[in-house]
Amino acid sequence: MVVLAASICTKGGKPVISRQFREMTRTRIESLLASFPKLIPIGTQHTSVETSEVRYVYQPLEDLYILLITNKASNILQDIDTLHLFARVVSDMCRSAEEREILKNAFELLGAFDEIVSLGYREQINLMQVRSVLEMESHEEKIQDIIARNKEAEAKEELKRRAKQLEMQRREQQRRAASGGGGGGSGYLGSGSGNMGTYSPVSRFEAPSPVPARNTSPMPSAARAPSFKGTGMKLGSKKTKQSELLDAMGSEAVVPDELSAPTTPVPSHTPEPVVAKATSTLPVVEAESVHVIIKELINLSLKREGGLNAFEIKGDMNLQVADPSLAKIKLGLKPMSSDFGSELQFKQHPNVGKLATSGDRVVALKDPSRSFPVGQPLAVLKWRYAGKDESLVPLTVTCWPTPSNGGTCEVNIEYELENDGLTLHDTVISIPLPTGSYPSVTSPHTGDWSLNASTHSLDWSIPLISTEMRSGTLEFTVGGDDESTFFPVKVSFAAEGSLMGLGVASVKRADNAEDVLFSQAVTATTEEYLLV
Ligand SMILES: *[C@@H]1O[C@H](CO)[C@@H](O)[C@H](O)[C@H]1NC(C)=O
Ligand SMILES: *[C@@H]1O[C@H](CO)[C@@H](O)[C@H](O)[C@H]1NC(C)=O
Repeated sequence: MVVLAASICTKGGKPVISRQFREMTRTRIESLLASFPKLIPIGTQHTSVETSEVRYVYQPLEDLYILLITNKASNILQDIDTLHLFARVVSDMCRSAEEREILKNAFELLGAFDEIVSLGYREQINLMQVRSVLEMESHEEKIQDIIARNKEAEAKEELKRRAKQLEMQRREQQRRAASGGGGGGSGYLGSGSGNMGTYSPVSRFEAPSPVPARNTSPMPSAARAPSFKGTGMKLGSKKTKQSELLDAMGSEAVVPDELSAPTTPVPSHTPEPVVAKATSTLPVVEAESVHVIIKELINLSLKREGGLNAFEIKGDMNLQVADPSLAKIKLGLKPMSSDFGSELQFKQHPNVGKLATSGDRVVALKDPSRSFPVGQPLAVLKWRYAGKDESLVPLTVTCWPTPSNGGTCEVNIEYELENDGLTLHDTVISIPLPTGSYPSVTSPHTGDWSLNASTHSLDWSIPLISTEMRSGTLEFTVGGDDESTFFPVKVSFAAEGSLMGLGVASVKRADNAEDVLFSQAVTATTEEYLLV
C-alpha cells in the first residue's frame, strides 16, 4: 500500500491541512483535493472513489472531509482502517472538527499524521501509542527548553567571563606598563565554570530533536498556525465525549497487522485499557416497609427475514415486608395485557390463593389469619409465557446487509420499541463483523458505537429507548460480502416495566382494607435476545 497524502479539506475541496508522504508538488495536491468533492457520487454512502490515477478513501468530519489519497494498488481495507485512526487522532486532539480548530492544532496533527504513516507506509501504531509519542515529544521539548535556557545562561556567563578577562588583561597591561613587573593574573581562571554542572546531567537528552525532521514535502497550511505551546501534554487529559468514545474503541486499533491478511483469523490482541461502560441507569427504587420486586427475563430468537423461532418470558413477584404490623396484607394487581392469552401461565406460592383468571386479581394468603414472612422476601407469584406471537416482541430489531459489487457490504440496522409499557436502559445491539475488517459508520445515528475486540463485533449502545425516543438506525460499510457473517445479532437491555403490564395497583390490610404505603421495582431484562 502507498498512501500518497493524508488531508483534511472543505466540502468544496479547499485544503485545510495536508501531509504528503510522497514527492508531490503543492499544485498537484491542491488540484487532487479540488477535484475530489466532484467525484463523490451523490446520495451514496461509499467511502472511497477512484480516478484513473489515484484512489480517495474518505469520511466526513462534520463540515469537512478527512481523506487519504492512495495509489490504486493500495489495500483498501487497510487504508480504511488507517483513515479511521487519522480521524480518531483528529477528534482526540481537536475539540471539534471545525476548520479553525484544525488549523489551530495543525502542527500537532501533522506530527501525529507522521507517526501513523511514514514514506507512504502504515506504521504499526495505535491511538494510544500516537498519544504517548506526542506526549514524549513534548516531554523532550521541555527538556530541550531547559537545555536551551542553560546554554543561554552559560553563554551570558561566558561573555561576562570574557569581558572580565579582557578587563583584567587590560588592567594587567596598564599595571605592567606602569610598574614594568609581572605576576598575578591567576585569579580569573576558575570563574564561569560553576554553572557547567547544572545542565550536564540532562545533556544526554540532547540527541533527539524535539520535533524530528521529517522526510516530507510542503505542508501548505501548517506554517500558519504552529501553536506549539503545551503540545502533547494536554492530550491525555482533554476529555471530550468524543475522546471517551475513542478510548472505548482503543482496543480496536491494537491490531493493524490483522488487515494485511484479511483472510486469516483474528490474532490475539494485547488488551488495552478501555474506559469502563457506564453502569446500568435503571432507576433505583427506595424500598418502603412493603416492597414488591417484579422481574421478567426475556429469551427471544427472531428470524432475520421476519417471524420468530422462540419467545419465552419468565417472571416472578417477590414481596418484602419489613414491618411486622404490615404483614397481613393483600395485593391488588393492575389490569394487564390480555394479548398473551392462554400461553401466559401463573403459579402462586402454595400459601397464596389462586389468582383469578379475570376481573380484579388479588394476591393474598389463603388463610387470612396468617401473616407474610417479615424481613425476608417471598416469591408470591411466578409466570411464564412461551409462544410465537411476533406482535408481542417488545423491541424489534432489523439488520439488513446489502452487498455491493466492490466486495463490501452496506449494513442497515434499525430498532423500534413496540411495547409502550417499557423504558429500555443501556441497550446494546451487537453485530458480528467479518474477520479482519473494520466498519465505516456512514449515517448519523442514535447512541454510540464501538468495536468489541474480543467478539469482533460492532456494539451499538443506546442509553435510553422510550415511547418518546422509540426508534433509531445505524448504517455502516464494511469489507466482506457474505451476509450471513452479520448474524446472529445480539441484543441486551434492562427495562423498566413488565412486558405484560404486570404491577401492583394497591396494597391493603387484609382485615380492614385500609391502604398501605408500598413501593415496587418492575424490571425486564434480556437473558438471550438474538436475531439469527
Ligand atoms: C432460550 O430459548 C432457546 C429455545 O427455547 C433455548 O435453546 C436456550 O437455551 C434459551 N436460552 C436461555 C439463556 O435460557
Ligand atoms: C465484548 O463483548 C462481550 C460479549 O458480548 C462482553 O461481555 C464484553 O463486555 C464486551 N466488551 C466491551 C469492551 O464492550
